[in-house]
Amino acid sequence: MKKCDNWRFDTLAVHAAQQPDAVTGAVSQPVIPAVAYAFPDAEAAAQVVAGNREGTYYGRYGNPTVQTLERKLALLEGGEDCIGLSSGMAAISSALLAFAQAGDHVIVTKDVYGGTYNFVTQLAPRFGIAHSFVDCSSLEAVRQAIRPNTKAIFVETPSNPLLTVLDLRGLAEVAKASQLPLIVDSTFMTPCLQKPLELGAAVVVHSATKYINGHGDVLAGFVVGSRNVIGYIRSRIAGDLGQNLNAWEAFLILRGMKTLGLRVRTHCSSAQRVAEFLDGHPLIRQVYYPGLPSHPQHELAKGQMKGMGGIVSFEVDGGLEAGKQLMNRLQMAMISFSLGDPETLVQHPATMTHAAIPAEERLQFGITDGLIRLSIGLEDAEDIIADLEQALCEVHHAAEKEGEVHERPVYQA
Ligand SMILES: Cc1ncc(COP(=O)(O)O)c(C=O)c1O
Repeated sequence: MKKCDNWRFDTLAVHAAQQPDAVTGAVSQPVIPAVAYAFPDAEAAAQVVAGNREGTYYGRYGNPTVQTLERKLALLEGGEDCIGLSSGMAAISSALLAFAQAGDHVIVTKDVYGGTYNFVTQLAPRFGIAHSFVDCSSLEAVRQAIRPNTKAIFVETPSNPLLTVLDLRGLAEVAKASQLPLIVDSTFMTPCLQKPLELGAAVVVHSATKYINGHGDVLAGFVVGSRNVIGYIRSRIAGDLGQNLNAWEAFLILRGMKTLGLRVRTHCSSAQRVAEFLDGHPLIRQVYYPGLPSHPQHELAKGQMKGMGGIVSFEVDGGLEAGKQLMNRLQMAMISFSLGDPETLVQHPATMTHAAIPAEERLQFGITDGLIRLSIGLEDAEDIIADLEQALCEVHHAAEKEGEVHERPVYQA
């Protein structure tokens, strides 16, 4: 294995855990789709199954191509071990199930991804796992929410879709004081921008469907943590539930990861420009982006993130209707669910990603009807801004025609 002690992120993203194939010399990772693996003798088989010897034995419990990717992710996150899974939701559910069982309780930050909300409110209770949604931007609120049967604190930072930044160092201290694991969904950041384990978290989860793969053509997730936790997830949760990642998708992610740093830096710089553009626009009521000095956790974000990410959320004047009109008038950005892709994607959380959350609760979380989330792509930032500008201009003119614009905005186009 190559020495990589002093390598920086971009070098690790290319080289970590990878070397030319021992048989063919192939530089890129060979895809090994085999499900079953042969052993020289019965003892060797028993040793591998027992985990006392390196190796793979059956596709549901591990695969050589996936293993390369798992080692790379563990190195990039600074974790002991990692497991690659079939989706971000497989990673989130298995990380929570690794710590909680019937009779237990978990604390979950209040504005989480809709799928996490569904898991915690719909499926986990069927297994006897209770939850509290807590405003985790208040460490005191987290302390207060800890019960004798609490088994984990789960947060997402920055959050989807409001970009709330949570104090990971502070949360890790609160968790440690009660001997609880802090589980962090770091999907929006990737290890390029945020290292929750270095800040004191016990476990990191990712939807690799987003920036880590980065090309919108793979569903995948990762859990990074201690050998014990990952071993348990591999043998008892992912293995038994069949949440494994397959070799071809691992290959695509390995390929995508070689440009992770390059891509993420472009996403960040373009998102900053888009956020500044929207922030200064008279038709925009509010912009949510941690890179704006007006963001409530701007200073905290600078202290724990190397970049502010590629997601910008905002509210247009005129609420839901104006928001929909704006989305419909975009010519380049596509109305779509995912994020972290090369294409700029736009979506309406209240009716799309967070539609399953009852309106009252959603509004309590701050996800209003007029909120729009943009995933800034890799196109030229000028073109992304021009697209938004023409759509905003159209919305304004349409509202003027309807007589809905009472106060003429400063904006003229
Ligand atoms: C922050 C976050 N976590 C987890 C997920 C779930 O990932 P997947 O769709 O790969 O299951 C998403 C999906 O959008 C997400 O945005």
